[in-house]
Amino acid sequence: MQILSDKVIFLTGGSMGIGLACAKAYAAEGANVVIAATASSHISAEEVATQLGKKHHGITCDVSNSSDVERAIGQTIEKYGKIDAIHNNAGIAMPSKPLHETSDIEWQRLMDVNLKSVLFTTRFGFEELKKSKGCILNTSSLVGEIGQENHAAYTATKGAMNALTKSMALDYAPYKIRVNAVSPAGVWTTTLRNWKEEQPDPSSIEKYLDDIHPLGYCPDGDVIADACVFLLSDKARFITGTILPVSGGAELGYRAIR
Ligand SMILES: NC(=O)c1ccc[n+]([C@@H]2O[C@H](COP(=O)([O-])OP(=O)(O)OC[C@H]3O[C@@H](n4cnc5c(N)ncnc54)[C@H](O)[C@@H]3O)[C@@H](O)[C@H]2O)c1
Repeated sequence: MQILSDKVIFLTGGSMGIGLACAKAYAAEGANVVIAATASSHISAEEVATQLGKKHHGITCDVSNSSDVERAIGQTIEKYGKIDAIHNNAGIAMPSKPLHETSDIEWQRLMDVNLKSVLFTTRFGFEELKKSKGCILNTSSLVGEIGQENHAAYTATKGAMNALTKSMALDYAPYKIRVNAVSPAGVWTTTLRNWKEEQPDPSSIEKYLDDIHPLGYCPDGDVIADACVFLLSDKARFITGTILPVSGGAELGYRAIR
């Protein structure tokens, strides 16, 4: 049985990394997937949708741009007649700097892409979610709760996303709209793999990323996607306002040196 059969899922940042793994998992579970992602990534949203299959749709869209998001959601409704879920996954993690070195432009870009995008998808998708009694899923990060060296502005966006998830869950519960977040620690993506190869000692990066997860390895996006499938499905029908760590236990306490 496919647990997302015929659901229409509007997924931001679905052309690469975690989002691409989610797009594949949603499609495998019977959903119609709409991928909204920037043109700057090495594969376009349209190309990914074509690879996924005929019933899926790709839209080039900058989630930090209000009119882009309005157009993408409008196209989705025009094509499918409804939206069952919005997955706010698009995100950037740069710059890698402490706060005092972060420029106004860098700060603003992080806030706009990672956070203001949620305002836009909610603003333009809310009426449809009301009709479908649908759900919203946010891709947060464990660092929004525990912090991270050299990524203060990024972690602030994810801490805010956690707070937003809970407040939105309360505001939208009367409409039977569920709002949840997944919170990964490290996840191997093309971007992360390329970055690792550029570092002076790539194997130490790999060991570090394995070691932060007590379960012993840094996963690929499929583990996040499986949790997302669950949260968007009716099997999670009584779950709202949760920030689900999908982290191999990375948030757990003191550990022995291995
Ligand atoms: N990879 C990790 O280790 C990790 C860990 C925790 C949380 N996350 C979060 O997971 C999400 C996905 O990250 P990833 O690692 O898969 O990244 P990635 O760089 O592999 O992919 C990012 C995706 O977002 C899209 N995107 C970027 N800016 C956009 C914009 N302005 N408008 C529309 N689309 C845009 C890109 O086109 C791409 O599809 C992000 O929110 C990130 O913060 C990642």
